[in-house]
Amino acid sequence: MNVQEKVEKTPNVPFAGYFLNGVPREDPELTHVGPGTVCGEYLRKFWHPVALSSNLRDLPHAARIMGEDLVAFRDKSGNVGVLHRHCSHRGTSLEYGIVSERGIRCCYHGWLFDVDGRILETPGEPPDSKLKDSFYHGAYPAIECNGLVFTYMGPPEEEPEFPILDTFEWPRGNRLVPYSIHHPCNWLQVAENFQDPVHAVFLHTNLTNVQFTEAWGNMPTVDFGELDDGMYYITCRRVGDMVWVRSNHFLAPNLGQVAALWEDADEEKYFGRASITRWTVPIDDTHCWIFGFRHYNDNVDPKGLGKPEECGDNSVDFFGQTGERPYEDTQRTPGDYEAQISQREIAIHALEHRGSSDEGVLRMRRILRNGAHSETRVPQPADKKRSSGVIHTYTHDTILRIPVRSDVDDNAMMKELGRKVIQAIFAGDAYEGDDRQAEIERGLKALTADFAGGGKAA
Ligand code: FES
Ligand SMILES: [Fe+2]
Repeated sequence: MNVQEKVEKTPNVPFAGYFLNGVPREDPELTHVGPGTVCGEYLRKFWHPVALSSNLRDLPHAARIMGEDLVAFRDKSGNVGVLHRHCSHRGTSLEYGIVSERGIRCCYHGWLFDVDGRILETPGEPPDSKLKDSFYHGAYPAIECNGLVFTYMGPPEEEPEFPILDTFEWPRGNRLVPYSIHHPCNWLQVAENFQDPVHAVFLHTNLTNVQFTEAWGNMPTVDFGELDDGMYYITCRRVGDMVWVRSNHFLAPNLGQVAALWEDADEEKYFGRASITRWTVPIDDTHCWIFGFRHYNDNVDPKGLGKPEECGDNSVDFFGQTGERPYEDTQRTPGDYEAQISQREIAIHALEHRGSSDEGVLRMRRILRNGAHSETRVPQPADKKRSSGVIHTYTHDTILRIPVRSDVDDNAMMKELGRKVIQAIFAGDAYEGDDRQAEIERGLKALTADFAGGGKAA
């Protein structure tokens, strides 16, 4: 009997350890990311962050993404390069190279590579040598955006437009601060935390300490919706006379936005926007990065609890995200980091006993599997670019004053409300910028009147 058969035939008895002592294989389709793998080829069809702009100094930056060893650098003319790390002469790592006026020069025999992989010089060869013109070194296109360096590692003919999200500049005065966090585990278990809203009740509030605010500890109603390029959850929490409606929007395959962290839900709010935009980027099958932006503005953090100065290379300003704390501290008050990396190096889906609260994770996996097997072009965030040049996203906190009513099932009311809130937000898609915000606010205030006044909820 192999391990999988043994797991499936486990009798329903106490002291079942013996029957469960094997570990089946991980799901390779979603967790293996190297060149030629199903998921690896899918992920390669999107732009991904590979470094912070601050990593590109006078020295080259060694990076490893989806099992490929790379070197990133900014040459002295200001051009950013992302090249295969090993020199195409005889393999010396370009992390020991010399950043040059144009391109990077290998330390061993002085070959000079431009950011597009063109070989500019082979100084040890005779002047009439044609060697440098006979091939290109491996290179990927690079774009810098708000302090992150992105690259595209897929087929050149399928290179998509780089996505600019509405929340990069909204609300007005928004400040984006780049950060990264290294995780010694597979990318998928870190990414799928994003559509697992129930963990916030337990891990972040009721079982350890109040990691954000007490309001997080109220069990929400949970709902999900799918879009052609991703999905969102809708949670609704009762907080006194308020209902806190929240959605996090996931754009396949690995981009997500998180609404406010320190939300007390004690004041009305209409379509409050993202506090985090983040990409979960595989390093290889058993390591990944979160690269992202923290958003700082009065809308997501009116009390000014954020600390932008704490965000950067392997560092962010909210609880439980990195592997820097003493072990005993992490046991007493585990955070997202401990919960995710301890699901094994690669979480074993065949050993999971999933319940209704895992629906978001299952939907995410299905979206990824469909994308990975798609025989047509996979949808790209930039396909939805608006006339203003940005992509509308739907992450939000909305807090409406709708007191409990004795004649109404509160959970049923909240679930219906949550769906109507997201519809009111979609109705704003016909508008841009201030007009969009105004239209959404108008719709949400009308909903409040309906639900608080008994119209829809009665
Ligand atoms: S190994 Fe790089 S120039 Fe020779
Ligand atoms: Fe979390």
